[in-house]
Amino acid sequence: MYRCSETRKPQNKHTAKHKMDARSLFKRNAKYARESLGLREWLYYISGTDGEYTFRDNERAFARLCIVPKLFPSSRDALNLKTILVGREVDFPIGISPSAYHQVLHPEGELATASAAARLNLCYAQSLYSNRSVEEVSAAYPNSMRWMNMRAVKERDYLADVVRRAEKCGYGALVVTVDSPIIGNKLSSKRIPFTLPPHLKPGNLPVSSPDTKEEDKVIHLRPTTWEEIRWIKSLTKLPIVLKGIQTAEDAMLAIQNGASAIQISNHGGRQMDYVPASLEALAEISEAVGGQIDIFIDGGFRSGVDVFKALALGAKAVFLGRAVVFGLHYGGCDGVVEVLETMKEELELAMMQTGCTDVNHIPRNVVRRVESVARL
Ligand SMILES: Cc1cc2nc3c(=O)[nH]c(=O)nc-3n(C[C@H](O)[C@H](O)[C@H](O)COP(=O)(O)O)c2cc1C
Repeated sequence: MYRCSETRKPQNKHTAKHKMDARSLFKRNAKYARESLGLREWLYYISGTDGEYTFRDNERAFARLCIVPKLFPSSRDALNLKTILVGREVDFPIGISPSAYHQVLHPEGELATASAAARLNLCYAQSLYSNRSVEEVSAAYPNSMRWMNMRAVKERDYLADVVRRAEKCGYGALVVTVDSPIIGNKLSSKRIPFTLPPHLKPGNLPVSSPDTKEEDKVIHLRPTTWEEIRWIKSLTKLPIVLKGIQTAEDAMLAIQNGASAIQISNHGGRQMDYVPASLEALAEISEAVGGQIDIFIDGGFRSGVDVFKALALGAKAVFLGRAVVFGLHYGGCDGVVEVLETMKEELELAMMQTGCTDVNHIPRNVVRRVESVARL
C-alpha cells in the first residue's frame, strides 16, 4: 500500500536548495503544473470564471488586513494548534477542500491526498468527482478523518447510495456544496472543455458498475434548494457542512435548516465572478452566527499568515483548494505535506509574534483593516 514515506521527495528542476515559504511553494508548484500538465488540464485546475476578478481578489483580500504585533513573542512550546472540527480533533486548523479528479494530477490520486491528511492528522474532504472510490480511500486510511462532498443531483437514488457508502466507510461528515447549482461561465472551459482522460475513471459516479447503461453514466446537477438540503439531511445521521455560504443571511438559513457547520466559499472564484472575496465575507458572517455553529472558509489561502488572519476574524479552520492540487501534482503525498507543514509553521510564527497561544482563541484585534492597499 502506498504511504507518504515510500514516495521519493519531490525533486525536479524547480526544487529549491533552501526551505521555501508557502507562497513561493504555491508559485513553484503552479509553475510546474503549467509546464507539465496538458493545456486542457492546466486550464481546468487553475481557471476562475468570467474575467477572474473573484479568483484574483480571493488572494488579494489578505493584503487589505494587516497584523498587529505584540512586544515579546510567545514561545513555540506554549502554542496549541489542535482544534475540534465537527466532533473530531485535528492537529492544526487547516484542511483539504474537495477538488475533482486527483489522478489527473498524480497516479496515486486521492490515495496520495488522503495519505497526507492522515499523516498530519488533518481533515480531507473528498470530492464526489474523485477517481478513487470512498471504499478505496477508506480501506487505505481507515482511521483518518474524511468527509464526503455532495451536491444536489437529479439522480437521487444514486446520491442516496453514495451517502450510504460514505457512512459505511467511516466518513465523518457530508460537505454539501451549495454554491454551484448551475455551471458558472468559465471561459477557458468553453474554449477547451475538460474531459477525463480515457485511461481514468470516476470512482464514485454510476459508471463504476459494469451493468450501468450508457445514458446513466453521468449525473446531472439539480437546482439546490433548502428542501433539497433537508432531503440530503434526512438520508443520514452524519453532520452536514454547507459549503458555499457567502452572506450572513444564508448563514442564518443554514443554521435553521440544520447545518452543523458552514464553509464560506465562492468555489475559488470558479462559479460567479464579482462576488466578494471569501475573506471579505467572513467578519459579517462570523458576527451574525455568533458561535452557534463552526465556520470554515476557503478561497485564495496561500500562506500560514493568511490562515492566521481568517482565524482572527472568526474561522475555526481554513481549507485549501489549489494549494493542495498543485502540491499533489508536484510531489504526490509529500508535495501536499510540504505545503501543509509550511503553512502550519507560518501560522505558528504569526501566533508567536502576536502573543497568541491557542488557535481556538485568536482575538479579533490582532488584525486591522488597511485602506492603502495600492502601496502594499
Ligand atoms: C480543480 C478544482 C476542482 C474543484 N472541485 C470541487 C468539488 O468537486 N466540490 C467542491 O465543493 N468544490 C470544488 N472545488 C472548489 C474547492 O473546494 C475550493 O472551494 C476552492 O478551490 C478554494 O479556492 P482556492 O483554490 O483558491 O484554495 C474545486 C476547485 C478546483 C480548483
